[in-house]
Amino acid sequence: MTRHLITSAIPYINGIKHLGNLVGSQLPADLYARYQRARGNEVLFLCATDEHGTPAELAAAKAGQPVAEYCAEMHKIQSEIADGFRLSFDHFGRSSSEQNKALTQHFAGVLAANDLIREVSETQMYSPSDGRYLPDRYIEGTCPNCGFESARGDQCDNCTKQLDPVDLINPYSTISGATDLEMRETKHLYLRQSQMKDQLDAWIDSKADWPVLTTSIAKKWLHDGDGLQDRGITRDLEWGVPVKKGDADWPGMEDKVFYVWFDAPIEYIACSQEWVDAGKGDNWQRWWRTDAGADDVRYTQFMGKDNVPFHTLSFPSTILGSGEPWKLVDYIKSFNYLNYEGGQFSTSRGRGVFMDQALEILPADYWRWWLLSHAPESSDSEFTWENFQSSVNKDLADVLGNFASRVTKFCRSKFSEAVPEGGEMGAREAKLFADIEAGLQDYEAQMEAMEVRKSAAALRALWVMGNEYLQEVAPWSTIKEDPAQAALQIRLGLNLIRFYAVISSPFIPDASASLLTSMQTQEQAWPDDVAMALTALPAGHAFTVPEVTFRKITDAEREDWQTRFAGIRT
Ligand code: MF3
Ligand code: ZN
Repeated sequence: MTRHLITSAIPYINGIKHLGNLVGSQLPADLYARYQRARGNEVLFLCATDEHGTPAELAAAKAGQPVAEYCAEMHKIQSEIADGFRLSFDHFGRSSSEQNKALTQHFAGVLAANDLIREVSETQMYSPSDGRYLPDRYIEGTCPNCGFESARGDQCDNCTKQLDPVDLINPYSTISGATDLEMRETKHLYLRQSQMKDQLDAWIDSKADWPVLTTSIAKKWLHDGDGLQDRGITRDLEWGVPVKKGDADWPGMEDKVFYVWFDAPIEYIACSQEWVDAGKGDNWQRWWRTDAGADDVRYTQFMGKDNVPFHTLSFPSTILGSGEPWKLVDYIKSFNYLNYEGGQFSTSRGRGVFMDQALEILPADYWRWWLLSHAPESSDSEFTWENFQSSVNKDLADVLGNFASRVTKFCRSKFSEAVPEGGEMGAREAKLFADIEAGLQDYEAQMEAMEVRKSAAALRALWVMGNEYLQEVAPWSTIKEDPAQAALQIRLGLNLIRFYAVISSPFIPDASASLLTSMQTQEQAWPDDVAMALTALPAGHAFTVPEVTFRKITDAEREDWQTRFAGIRT
C-alpha cells in the first residue's frame, strides 16, 4: 500500500471559478485521488481557498463587504460548489487560517536565520489622499510597453508584460482615482532564490519523468536572461499574514504583510494541520515531515501552467531553504489552458461557463466526463457546445448508459429482475475476458501515469467492448433457439455493468454509485482478477432496472445554452 499526498492549486477567493480553472487543477487531482483510493492506497487529498493579496481586497471592496467576511462567505460558496462537483477533498482549508499564519511566520523566521532573506530599500508609489501605498492592482496607468490605458501595477492585461507600479505612465489610484502620487522609499523583504539556483537546477534535472510542460517552464525561469531572480515577499497591505520572524516582531516591517504567493503554497502544509484540528485526522506530520515517516509518501501536485514557476522554484526555495525536514513534491502534473468557444475563459470579464452555472444545467458527471476526456494536456484545448453535446451523447448515453439499460431491460422482460441461470462460457466469452484484461491494464497504466485523456479513452474502450460483445452474441436472437445461452450472455452483461460501475467511479462517481445501487451490491473492490470480477454477481442475485443513467442533450438545449452563455456574466 502506498501513501499518496495529493494537492490541487488552491483557487483564489475572489469569485466562483470557471470550467477552465476546474479542469486545470481540482478535477484531475480528484480523478487521481479517487483512483488511488479505489486501488486501496492511503490518500490525503487537500485543497483550500487562496485568500490573501490584492485580488481578495479588491473583490471584497467591490462587494461592499469587510474582507474577512467576504472571504468567509466565499469560502463556503466555493466549498459547496466543490461538493457539487464531487471533489473528494479530505479537507478544504483556508490560507487565512491561524495555522497558515503561524507556519508562514515560522518559515520566514528560519529563512532569515539561514540568511536567505534580505531587506531591500526601494521606491513604492504612495498616495497621500488614500493615506497608503498602492501595490499591484491598486494602481493603474498607461502601459510603457503597448500604450494600453488601464494596465495594472503588476501586469498589463493587454500585452501581458510584467510591470512594476513605478513603470506606469500617468498612474492613478484605483481606490480614489487620485493622481497626486509620490514615490516613497520603503523597505521590503526579498527571498534570495538566486542563492538556491544550483540546488533547484539539480533537483529539476533529477526529475526526468516529469511532464515537459513542467520542466520546460522551470528551466526557462532558471536560465533565461539573468537567471533566477530574488523575489519580493512582502507587500504594503492590511489583509494578509503580518510580517514576523516566527513569534518575534520584524523591526521596520510593522505595517506589512507577506506577499500572497509566499503564504499560499505553505497552506498545503497548514491545510493538513487544519484537517487534524477539525478532527478529521490525527497526524499531519507523517504526511509532511520526513523525520516522521513522510519519506514513504508519494506527493503529487496538480496545477495550471501559470502556477508552475511558483511550485518548481519559489515554494521549493522555501522548503529547501528552511533546512528542515519537510517533504518535497515528487511529481508536478501541469496543464495548458482550456479555451471557450474561440476565445478565452475569463473571470474578470465573465466569459464562459462558471462552476455554479454548469451544475444548474446538468449533473456533475456530464461535466466531469467531458472536461477530463478533453483535458488540455499536450496543448490548449477548447470547449464548444457542439463538442460537449456530441461527446456526452455518444460516450455517456449511447455507449455506457445504453448498455446498462438494454441489458437490464432485456433481462427483466425475458427472465426476471434477477441474474439468470444457465449456459456455459465459450470462445467468445474467453475472448471478451482477454480483451477486458488487456484493456484494464492499459487503463491502469494511463491512470498511474496521470495521462488524463488517455485514461478516459482507455475507459471508454472498455465500455465499447461490452457493447460489441452484446451486439455480436445478440441475446435477443439467441433466446429463440437457446435460452440457456442467452441467459449466460445476459448474466455476463449484468456483471459487466457492476464492473463498469467500479472502474468508472474516478470519472463519474454518481453514475457509478447509482449503477451499483441498481445492481444491489456494494462490492466495489478493484477488479484485480477480471474473471472473478465478471462472475461476482451469481445467478439468482436480484437487481433493478436503473433510471436513465445518462440522457442525451437535445439540439434545442444546446442552442439555448449557446445563446445563454454567449455573452458575459454580470
Ligand atoms: N491561487 C492561485 C491561482 O489560482 C494558485 C495558488 S496555488 C498555491 O492561480 F501554491 F499557491 F497554493
Ligand atoms: Zn501593455
